[in-house]
Amino acid sequence: MTPLFLLLSAVILSTILYSLLFKNQTNSTQPLPPGPKGWLILGNLPQLGTKPHQTLYNLSKVYGPLIYLRFGSVNVVVASSCNVAFQFLKTHDANFSNRPPNSGAEHIAYNYQDMVFAPYGSRWRAMRKMCTIHLFSAKALDDLWPIRQAEVMSMVKEVYLQGKKGKVVDVSHVINVCSMDALSKALVGWKVCGEAKEASEFKSMVVELMQLAGVFNVGDFVKGLAWIDPQGVVRKMKKLHKRFDKFFDSLIEARRTRNNKGEGRDLLSVLLNFQGEGSDFEEGKLTDINIKALMLNLFTAGTDTASSTVEWALAELICHPDILKKAQEELDSVVGRHQFVKEQDLQNLPLFQAIIKEVFRLHPATPLSIPRVAENECKINGYHVPKNATLLVNLWAISKDPAIWKNPMRFDPDRFLPGGSHAHAHVKGNNFELIPFGAGRRKCAGMRLGLRMVQIMTATLIHGFDWVLPDGQTHDKLDMEEAYGLSLQRAVPLVACPVPRLEPCAYEIAY
Ligand code: HEM
Ligand SMILES: *[C@@H]1O[C@H](CO)[C@@H](O)[C@H](O)[C@H]1NC(C)=O
Ligand SMILES: *[C@@H]1O[C@H](CO)[C@@H](O)[C@H](O)[C@H]1NC(C)=O
Ligand SMILES: *[C@@H]1O[C@H](CO)[C@@H](O)[C@H](O)[C@H]1NC(C)=O
Repeated sequence: MTPLFLLLSAVILSTILYSLLFKNQTNSTQPLPPGPKGWLILGNLPQLGTKPHQTLYNLSKVYGPLIYLRFGSVNVVVASSCNVAFQFLKTHDANFSNRPPNSGAEHIAYNYQDMVFAPYGSRWRAMRKMCTIHLFSAKALDDLWPIRQAEVMSMVKEVYLQGKKGKVVDVSHVINVCSMDALSKALVGWKVCGEAKEASEFKSMVVELMQLAGVFNVGDFVKGLAWIDPQGVVRKMKKLHKRFDKFFDSLIEARRTRNNKGEGRDLLSVLLNFQGEGSDFEEGKLTDINIKALMLNLFTAGTDTASSTVEWALAELICHPDILKKAQEELDSVVGRHQFVKEQDLQNLPLFQAIIKEVFRLHPATPLSIPRVAENECKINGYHVPKNATLLVNLWAISKDPAIWKNPMRFDPDRFLPGGSHAHAHVKGNNFELIPFGAGRRKCAGMRLGLRMVQIMTATLIHGFDWVLPDGQTHDKLDMEEAYGLSLQRAVPLVACPVPRLEPCAYEIAY
């Protein structure tokens, strides 16, 4: 049987089930928000296309900033303006502090035993607190700076040596190894991907996870179809889960063996000790599964998001040589040409900061955020949002709203500089016109680390090197196509030739 035939017969079968079970239970006097009419059974799912964030952006131009869709039997609302996002994530945040049920959380994230998909409650709070104290607080971040610096310098070495041989550099790969290694040292105390081969193996696992997590799995929305798994998503999820699980088992095993020999200060050691002390929280103890699930969250949420942002940043700057030149001049005047930029320098680089904001605006790492679910019904802009509706916040659309952003598709960091239209905007979750990390209670836990990683990697790559595109490619023809997933990858990975631009002494570490 072909998959199409399977799908068709299943659709017919579930039509019958559906007509038996489905009642239109809206008994509210307010209307639902506007939106396009969907198909029978599948609702609007078949209309999403290959780039749902762009499709939904286009729909918001027709139906307005609050759209109602139906995915199978699930009500979905999409927020596409800062005003609507504010009402959901600020005014009604408490009622949207959970994530909807989904097969990714079930089959990959240890059946909701992680932090990203944990119900809002004591276990979620305990996990988030642990991470904040040991990874993301100002003190933890400062303590971990030598680790980031060492990894950034080893990226410089790699780029420098490849450039010296006249090779083109797979930028996406070196950035990924750097963020992976820096994170890994903080999480488990050593580099889990010491070898290039392991790093690309792990990257492929993370990218696959992001792709799978970005798929709207029909089985999540049409219960009658879950059993045939029409897109094969669940099958892939289970397979991928096994690979991750094996990896995390070996990490815990290795950490337990090493800890017998000495004190570890990494997060994994801290969690294992915490567990050993018998500390618990309302919902019970921190189990090995919780620890593995948390590692899964941090490794996956923390590598791909940051590294794809850096790749977009570099690509935008290569496309805009005049802006790149100004940024390099700023770096030269603040840092000089005899050494590499350090995190302490970043606050003195207003143009560079504006560039990073502009990159987050055009290329938010998770274009559709991570879904939330309505605990209770509520009223937004006079429309009825039903209980249990899934909320999608289109971060990608919000930061391109033409009512707020002049020439929204243009890369123009000046808008964030003094005198610009958004001189005071920042990305931290209070200015709703630009919320690449989300907002409210479930806002990105790793925001501060993510920001620091993105900034230091980008600053180092443009301060240390000029970038020449290979084989007669010109900067105005660079492919800027997006590939959709939970995270926003470049469809065509960036490759370029690095040309050192600092004094030779700065690269001495590379000899
Ligand atoms: C460029 C970097 C990053 C971006 C743009 C980003 C973006 C986001 C977004 C949009 C969300 C969903 C927020 C919501 O539901 O409102 C999120 C959640 C999350 N992020 Fe990030 N992220 C980044 C880096 C990181 C890093 C480095 C880590 C950790 C190492 C991390 C860990 C998490 C976690 C654990 C959550 C779930 C929070 C919860 O459900 O309570 N992220 N991120
Ligand atoms: C959105 O609309 C633009 C302009 O009409 C069009 O070029 C683009 O292909 C559309 N994107 C999607 C994903 O429908
Ligand atoms: C959720 O919404 C209901 C109904 O609007 C409201 O009574 C309740 O206070 C809200 N809950 C929270 C935690 O805000
Ligand atoms: C919302 O979901 C819960 C749990 O799945 C279910 O028990 C309840 O009946 C649903 N309520 C509505 C109004 O759909």
